[in-house]
Amino acid sequence: HSIAAIVPAAGVGKRMQSDTPKQYLTIGGKCVIEHTLEKLLQVAAIEKIVVVLSKHDDVFETLAIAKHPRISTEIGGAERVDSVYAGLTSLNDEYQWALVHDAARPCVEPGDIKALIATCTESTEGGLLAYPAKDTIKRANADGNVETTVSRELIWHALTPQMYKVHDLVKAIDFSLAQQFTITDESSAIEAVNKPSHLVVGSSLNIKITSPEDLHLAEMILQQQVN
Ligand code: C5P
Repeated sequence: HSIAAIVPAAGVGKRMQSDTPKQYLTIGGKCVIEHTLEKLLQVAAIEKIVVVLSKHDDVFETLAIAKHPRISTEIGGAERVDSVYAGLTSLNDEYQWALVHDAARPCVEPGDIKALIATCTESTEGGLLAYPAKDTIKRANADGNVETTVSRELIWHALTPQMYKVHDLVKAIDFSLAQQFTITDESSAIEAVNKPSHLVVGSSLNIKITSPEDLHLAEMILQQQVN
């Protein structure tokens, strides 16, 4: 089961109110992407990690981790899906599975990644880390008031990593782009071609750093993982 990880890291982080893209903000002396890559490197089944960077990126190559033998880089595109696609097509036919993980999720637990890999390789179908909704879920009307309460029984929050056969994911993204579907994760592309995805329960602490307060939250989560 040869597995390559794709790490989209070509975003500019418009919601961070910072000139530094979020993957280069520091937590405890290391930047976000270093924490993320260290987590992936702890999973021996991941043979190669392709970090997808903005063409204007001049930071990644200055990090010591850029020289790691399991890590290589590619140039990404305008949207996350374009960056993932660039990473996937760079793999040629060498790898059976792609495990896509956001650079902006440094708090992922290696144990959760291993659980996802086990589920996908045993079933030979793809899947993603996710967790069941805990809050009561409301659907709003156009005025921003409550229209209805949605049963949360079947509602899950999608996380990354998301793992699919390289060939299936490339085809699914091709199809979704051709149909101009909005795809914010790999699972939505797979869904568009009616292929199955396993929901593998992962920790809700695997947050995506999006806004400035997330950085403090991530720092606390990472500290607690060390202890
Ligand atoms: O912006 P968002 O939070 O959805 O970004 C999720 C991940 O996708 C981040 O790690 C970001 O760097 C990456 N991304 C990318 N290429 C883009 C946009 C986002 O690799 N064009």
